[in-house]
Amino acid sequence: MKIDVLTIFPEFFREVFDFGIIRRARLAEIVEINIHDIREFTTDKHRMTDDRPFGGGDGMVFKAEPIFNAIENLMGTTEREKYPPRTRVVLLTPQGRVFKQAMAKEFADEVDNLILICGRYEGVDERVNEALVNEEISIGDYVLSGGEPAAVVMTDAIVRLLPNALGSETSAENDSFSDGLLDYPHYTRPADFRGMKVPEVLLNGNHAEIEKWRRQKALEKTQKFRQDLLNKENS
Ligand code: ADE
Repeated sequence: MKIDVLTIFPEFFREVFDFGIIRRARLAEIVEINIHDIREFTTDKHRMTDDRPFGGGDGMVFKAEPIFNAIENLMGTTEREKYPPRTRVVLLTPQGRVFKQAMAKEFADEVDNLILICGRYEGVDERVNEALVNEEISIGDYVLSGGEPAAVVMTDAIVRLLPNALGSETSAENDSFSDGLLDYPHYTRPADFRGMKVPEVLLNGNHAEIEKWRRQKALEKTQKFRQDLLNKENS
């Protein structure tokens, strides 16, 4: 997979993809991540990426032109139909569909070229949405100063699901959300840490019992913190 991130703050991403699973996936060429400075695609003397909103109001609006130029440069064409197959253009804004594990899986399975546009200011000129964007995505119901942290979140969640990105195939299957539940609690040595003991069931080697216990704990956690996940319609 190739991921191209469009931002006015390329420095923000300087080291963020250089750790752990994402770093390994890049080194193994499972994913290629490129960061592009949208300001490089301005054409005016002051290299402006924002302007005042038509109709008045507070704040500034991200201009369409530099984003169009950046994407057309990346795709090598001004015609949407000529983009390579399995290309997806995403605008990160609080107005979008809320990102979920199932969406991460869908991107990992169905997309080869992912373009992430990091929104900024009060919003992005709607013509970017109309002409270029497949989907607006939000990472949650809160407002960030820009889409950059959201691009990191999406990239991380997707890349770890790419084939061979994780050490063992089962690691992703057991993640929280992949079966609609939060993950069960984990313990490692020592079995007694400052008087806090690991549950007995995990020490006795009875795998059926252990499975049952884990499922029960996953259910309890989900019931306690994420009732909504237990309602099928919301998950
Ligand atoms: N930009 C600002 N807030 C955001 C959010 N919650 N998700 C994605 N992009 C954003």
